[in-house]
Amino acid sequence: MPSFWQRLLKKQPDASALRTNQANHLKVPQHLAIIMDGNGRWAKQRHRPRIAGHQEGMETVKRVTKMADAVGVQVLTLYAFSTENWTRPKDEVSFLMKLPERFFNTFVPELVAKNIRVSTIGDVSQLPETTQAAVAAAKEKTAGNTGMILNFALNYGGRHDIVTASQSLAAAVARGELAAEAITEELFAQQLTTGYLGSLADPDLVIRTSGEERLSNFLPYQAAYAEFYFTKVLWPDFGQADFDLALTTYTKRDRRFGGVKS
Ligand code: IPE
Ligand code: IPE
Ligand code: MG
Repeated sequence: MPSFWQRLLKKQPDASALRTNQANHLKVPQHLAIIMDGNGRWAKQRHRPRIAGHQEGMETVKRVTKMADAVGVQVLTLYAFSTENWTRPKDEVSFLMKLPERFFNTFVPELVAKNIRVSTIGDVSQLPETTQAAVAAAKEKTAGNTGMILNFALNYGGRHDIVTASQSLAAAVARGELAAEAITEELFAQQLTTGYLGSLADPDLVIRTSGEERLSNFLPYQAAYAEFYFTKVLWPDFGQADFDLALTTYTKRDRRFGGVKS
């Protein structure tokens, strides 16, 4: 049985996706990360409760997953719940905690059909048990899939991630198992919750909807060299044309990584 990594490295992008991208001259981010924002404002515009926005936002997640898969994205990370979101009203938090269950109940068969694998980053152990069970079941049912990784940031906080990684490295040093000088950027990155993604851990493109232009504690270490795309479109309204515009904008970017123009 090849390891997850062997399988991932062997993965060939879907041929039809490649054809589409060549025709469109699109540069496709290998790792696309999205800060899905604006659900509350979408609902407010319609004089509906905030949770109606979250419900609609879930439909966008399904759409965007299919769009990303169709163009050959290898990892799609979606910021679904931050460590700071616990401060929201209790009813809203409890609705958000029920969403993974609703989402996976209706969407897992399609994920399986599309060979998409579900994973998470963030401290899932702090979520209600029913939410944890839904997430675990989705991971289990898609564990053998070798296509796109659909990675949900659930109870994720970038600073928490960095601090936790530092603690585990410090403990290894204290036990005498690791020399402080042996802590490299690569070793540090492996300790973060995105470590399992290996060379795909860093997002190439971060999209944020709703007009806000900030990271809100999302992948601060990993996004050090990411391209950013901000749009005023609210997450429930984010559609194919918005997705295409984000990718064509990304295609025109010159990523220099501190070097000179390519
Ligand atoms: C994003 O939409 C969803 C989550 C953070 C869970 P918001 O709920 O933040 O929507 P706005 O920003 O209030 O419009
Ligand atoms: C970021 O959005 C978190 C998620 C999208 C899950 P927020 O709406 O919570 O961020 P702030 O409060 O505007 O920074
Ligand atoms: Mg918001």
